[in-house]
Amino acid sequence: MTVFALETSCDETSAAVLVNGCVRANIVASQIRLHAEYGGVVPELAAREHLRNLIPVARMAFETAQISPSEVDLVAATRGPGLPTALWIGLRAAQAMAFALGRPFLGVHHHAAHLYSPWLQGQPACLDLSGFEPHVSLIVSGGHTLLVYVTAPLQHHLLGATIDDAAGECFDKTGKLLGLPYPAGPWIDRLAEEGNPAAHSFPRPLRDDSTDNFSFSGLKTAVRYFLRDHPEVVQHKGSLSDLCASIQAAIVDVLVTKTLRAATRLGVSLVTASGGVTCNRALRRQLQDACNRHGLQLRLADPTYCTDNAAMVGALAELLARHGRSPTPLDADILPDWSLEEAHV
Ligand code: KG4
Ligand code: ZN
Repeated sequence: MTVFALETSCDETSAAVLVNGCVRANIVASQIRLHAEYGGVVPELAAREHLRNLIPVARMAFETAQISPSEVDLVAATRGPGLPTALWIGLRAAQAMAFALGRPFLGVHHHAAHLYSPWLQGQPACLDLSGFEPHVSLIVSGGHTLLVYVTAPLQHHLLGATIDDAAGECFDKTGKLLGLPYPAGPWIDRLAEEGNPAAHSFPRPLRDDSTDNFSFSGLKTAVRYFLRDHPEVVQHKGSLSDLCASIQAAIVDVLVTKTLRAATRLGVSLVTASGGVTCNRALRRQLQDACNRHGLQLRLADPTYCTDNAAMVGALAELLARHGRSPTPLDADILPDWSLEEAHV
């Protein structure tokens, strides 16, 4: 089966071609530079940029895959959650393409697409669910921080989510306070590699709380007050690195502790992690160390598939087709607030 997929839920315009679950092309046009001067994603600008990029990105995906549109068996796009105006562009383009080609269309859930990205493995990357067992999945990104109990393929139970800022948002907003460019996550990651994570002690919000929910806005406020009292820290690379390492340590500690606690409580022996923040090296190392200590297996999404991309959208569409899910109507609308538990059941 040949799947063509589009992803436009936020600030990446992406198109992918998968043949029998293997990624033949995954083109991503990032809008990071466009939004950097505003310090965050501006929805109206994102939508215009998707319109500009969509056709070149789609054309490049077909050329890279050496597949023609007439060979496509299934067209897919992200239907939600995401920025409404951004979602509309990819969804409507994919539906129009399915209509023109006379092929089925599948609208997929963005977080579910992240959730299966750790199962894209190998070179070329192929969707391979052998080794699947009930597991706890951490989805951690700029717009979402979720803990999910996956009992069977496409059976998702939401354990917890952030009650305010997402973890990626915390990286980006605290980084902005430090004067780092948007998105600050990768900058903090790089600076933190040379810093001392024990240099400063920041709060670990909700880490020891009995729920699986997260909260990161208090940490951001703590960094704001810290900078008010110690403005000189950001002026020297050494002290800035220590500060980045200390902020990152607080975020990573909360993510790792809560993921491992949920996994232990539910008695699973597998943990997966995906989403943009899963690129973070300290998070990858510490999740691995914690899983080793608890005798759990860990599956991390490859960094290529951590940030938003259409390959994961196509992979989920392939999985849905394998599980006999019906096509989405060609006039189906976007679902900006689509719940993960209701999607694809
Ligand atoms: O999954 P993604 O591309 O978009 C959303 O769906 O939100 O994630 C983007 C987020 C941003 O907040 C960015 O700062 C963060 O992922 N990020 C990182 C790293 N790389 C990307 N955060 C920490 N360390 C990184 N290396
Ligand atoms: Zn995402």
